[in-house]
Amino acid sequence: MRLSEAATISDLAAMARRRLPRFVFDFLDGGAGGERGVARNEERLQAILLKPSYGRGVAPDLGVRLFGRDWKLPIGVAPVGMAGLIWPGAELALARLAQAKGMPFVLSTAGTTPIEAIAAAAPDSAWFQLYASRQDAINRDLLRRAWESGIRVLVVTLDVVVPGNRPRDIRNRFVLPFRPGLAIAADLARCPAWSLATFKAGGPEFAVLAPYAGGGAPRSIGAFMGEQIKRDLTWDDVKALRDLWPGFLVVKGILAPADAVAARRAGADGVWVSNHGGRQLESVPASIDALPAVRAAVGPDLPLLMDGGLRSGEDVVKARLLGADLVMTARAFYYGVAAGGPAGGERAQTLLAEDLHRSLSQLGCPSFAALDRSWLWDPAAAGQNDR
Ligand SMILES: Cc1cc2nc3c(=O)[nH]c(=O)nc-3n(C[C@H](O)[C@H](O)[C@H](O)COP(=O)(O)O)c2cc1C
Repeated sequence: MRLSEAATISDLAAMARRRLPRFVFDFLDGGAGGERGVARNEERLQAILLKPSYGRGVAPDLGVRLFGRDWKLPIGVAPVGMAGLIWPGAELALARLAQAKGMPFVLSTAGTTPIEAIAAAAPDSAWFQLYASRQDAINRDLLRRAWESGIRVLVVTLDVVVPGNRPRDIRNRFVLPFRPGLAIAADLARCPAWSLATFKAGGPEFAVLAPYAGGGAPRSIGAFMGEQIKRDLTWDDVKALRDLWPGFLVVKGILAPADAVAARRAGADGVWVSNHGGRQLESVPASIDALPAVRAAVGPDLPLLMDGGLRSGEDVVKARLLGADLVMTARAFYYGVAAGGPAGGERAQTLLAEDLHRSLSQLGCPSFAALDRSWLWDPAAAGQNDR
């Protein structure tokens, strides 16, 4: 299949599966435990029905205003650790794409490209995601570098208290420190394009954290990264980060309404409803199911972001009408890059943007911003679905 023939994000995922060594695809695609949490994110989105209204002749506007700027597309690239393993240069490609298309790109603390390089590639679009370190000096320096390179939105992720249980990674022996075994050698031989590109690029390293690890091989930096995460993070720590960071602060990984309220109390400018793509706790609600109560708890004005299983424009519509101001996805974009490098990332973006435009046109809704619950088909209210 060629990129131009990929008609859905799952087509791109199928292409990625063929192009990537198994341990890499599984790292991207997999989730916690039996992966029911991953599946639930998508299934619960699909279960929601929409209520079109015809004869309105709309020309939909996809734009949204958030954190002091206008975004052309309300869909951003969520942070991914070890992204350079998925495809060399994946982060730079997606950061450039985000800049060109007017959407956010979020660089992870566990990223494989320096903060400064991402900020230069996406001066208006780059955000930085922090896994708070147990060493204050590291947090301060990361925030300083992000701010000085022009980044204005900081995302603090709370839902990685400890790494998730990912059986696929364990079976593939893909754990840090990484020790490639025989099975992986066979895998590499099966995927010459990935292997060659990775070999040429020199293999990924944790470039964001490397300056603090005191040199050493990438695998020891990986171990360093694992040791660094502050496992006893509290809301007081979030408040301290709030005081340090002059820009917008978003708290990521929220499902419970009370936690969203706590985030706002700690000074967050936005809350990101997420279950980490089903990679942390398996038995949690789908993000889409957690979203309405979070919106109700924080009121209409606090910016809400949401991710988890969004794979189409219709999914994006559903997230908006249940309370999200902007949505994010990690896998959709990284499947794209894995399927075809920068052009594959662009294909993912085109599929999502075109489908969002098409969905709003079909619904008869004039803009993404105007989507509310009146566009929801309520099967329990048969006969009461009149607008
Ligand atoms: C391979 C991979 C690595 C990830 N690494 C991070 C990370 O470093 N920081 C973070 O906050 N979230 C991380 N996430 C979670 C994503 O940012 C996002 O919340 C989730 O994947 C959204 O679900 P989706 O992939 O189904 O769209 C990662 C997700 C994946 C798939």
